[in-house]
Amino acid sequence: MSDFTVIIYEKKDGVGYVTLNRPDRLNAYNIKMRDELYEVLAAIEVDPDVKVVIFKGAGEKAFCAGADLSEFLTSESPILARKARWERDIWGRFLNVSKPIIAAMQGYVLGSGIEISLCCDIRICTDDAQFGLPEIGLGIIPAAGGTQTLPRMIGRGPALDVLLSGRWMKAAEAKKWKLVNQLVSRSELLPTAQRLADKIKGYDPLVMKCVKQAVTRGMDMTLAQGLEHEAKLSATVAAMK
Ligand code: COA
Repeated sequence: MSDFTVIIYEKKDGVGYVTLNRPDRLNAYNIKMRDELYEVLAAIEVDPDVKVVIFKGAGEKAFCAGADLSEFLTSESPILARKARWERDIWGRFLNVSKPIIAAMQGYVLGSGIEISLCCDIRICTDDAQFGLPEIGLGIIPAAGGTQTLPRMIGRGPALDVLLSGRWMKAAEAKKWKLVNQLVSRSELLPTAQRLADKIKGYDPLVMKCVKQAVTRGMDMTLAQGLEHEAKLSATVAAMK
């Protein structure tokens, strides 16, 4: 895993740090990044030393400025470029990570950048962050889960507003719609994420896994099914005590 080139993976005191690392391209998401994230997410899932994960972007300007447009340009069409991404179900893997993931975001959070953050569990951003889904203007639809994860997070109306108009949101609006949990200054971004990670990492990993599963799977169930699911998970936890 040490030969990653477009992400950095570090582990320290129970916290895994994944840094999107193409600062000269505003951390744009390319096929190489897909492959490296696919690998690192699998490693995180099975590593008992990692209790919680922080996702962040290298450089000052962006968490991630979306899909790498140069890959669109070298393909016959943006749609074919997208097809290459479907060879691996990175988003399915991301959403199924059982450990808590915190996104710490600065600057531009566009396209796949928003979608990556929506695969995380808690989102913190700087008060000058900007969010947008420019796909509609490129003649494609978000295909990193955004059409599904965004409305589940902020509701159908606000999601369709940004998806159909392509308009950008400033951090305060993103907070208003609950796309992010917390706004902080730039200097406080990583310390805030680290404090949260330090608190969370002390909790029982099985309990955290069950809470995550109860919420994420339960969101796709009826209330009755969700309550049944919760009861099963609660029994699983009780049986382990
Ligand atoms: N894919 C590939 N390269 C990208 C990129 C992307 N999505 N976003 C930015 N870059 C590159 C730029 O081409 C530029 O490269 P250069 O230095 O070789 O010219 C570098 O990153 C810095 O970006 P730049 O455009 O100079 O920064 P800016 O502050 O003037 O503008 C943005 C920032 C985000 C407004 C602008 O880069 C942009 O619109 N990017 C594309 C966003 C997008 O449509 N993403 C796709 C979503 S599906």
